[in-house]
Amino acid sequence: MNKKVAVLTSGGDAPGMNAAVRAIVRTGLYHGYEMYGVYSGFEGLVTGDIEPLSAREVGGVMQSAGTFLGSARSVEFTTEAGQKKALSNLETKGISSIVVTGGNGSQTGSYELSKAGLAVVGVASTIDNDLCGSDITIGVDTALNIALESIDRLRVTATSHRRGLLVEVMGRHCGYLALMAGLAGGAEAIVIPEQELSPEDLADRIQKAHERGKKHALTVVAEGARNNARKLVEYFAQHKHLLGFELRATILGHVQRGGTPTAFDRLLATRLGVTAMETLVRGEHGVLVGLMDNRPGTTPLSEVVGKNKPLDLGLLEMAGMLSK
Ligand code: F6P
Repeated sequence: MNKKVAVLTSGGDAPGMNAAVRAIVRTGLYHGYEMYGVYSGFEGLVTGDIEPLSAREVGGVMQSAGTFLGSARSVEFTTEAGQKKALSNLETKGISSIVVTGGNGSQTGSYELSKAGLAVVGVASTIDNDLCGSDITIGVDTALNIALESIDRLRVTATSHRRGLLVEVMGRHCGYLALMAGLAGGAEAIVIPEQELSPEDLADRIQKAHERGKKHALTVVAEGARNNARKLVEYFAQHKHLLGFELRATILGHVQRGGTPTAFDRLLATRLGVTAMETLVRGEHGVLVGLMDNRPGTTPLSEVVGKNKPLDLGLLEMAGMLSK
């Protein structure tokens, strides 16, 4: 392997990505490698937006969410022609290795580059926590804490007005964020794609909470649920009499991707970033670096891409039991 390594961040930005880039770059420099930043994710690889990165340039980035390298959802990179351009841009600069920090879609891109002969190491990063090969991914803890802070605030006003509150959180097709926010937020009901709750059953839960004398009823909904917040609001507008409570809905959206990365995310990103670079240094590639049983480890990209990470549905049952 030559001594030039590129680093890129891809997909939805996740708090802690910057800490990962800092760790990758400084570990590479420590081992005598020349480090390069690719701007705007795979799009920058296609357009050749690749510049050297020094230790100073990754200073002061750990504290902020987002990604200073930028990210984009590149359509051109998904084509064969786009991938050829990306490989040729790296070759022109004499770069034969790359570290890709991102989630499911991004690691699919990593796998394509790896099959084309590039030395690629992925770093597990997405607020959705839907990536196989890592028990938890960079950004999840911060996003969850932001969601929880919002839920706690909404609960206060819902209690004052004796209302039902419906909060939709992100997660794409995965219910992890909704399940955890619901469990930690003391929700009366949780609606996730992995185990859908019909509007009728949800109404029954809310109604029963009202009958038990609760001052509010909190429902956390995953954006990926068939009955997402928009659909539930539509349904309950027609079926107000079923609830007992007057209902208000909030869709949290992209606010969950901002904020300051928590200590957990900075530490996770730092550990995974260092491990990713050390993985390349010892000549291993074509793998994802993630946290498994609380230790950074590698999983072949072929075992990560296109797989569904199972959700612990026992926690949904637990939340139901505790909501009484
Ligand atoms: O994958 C991270 C994520 O925030 C998902 O939770 C969400 O569905 C999606 O990205 C939103 O994507 P965009 O920022 O492109 O709207």
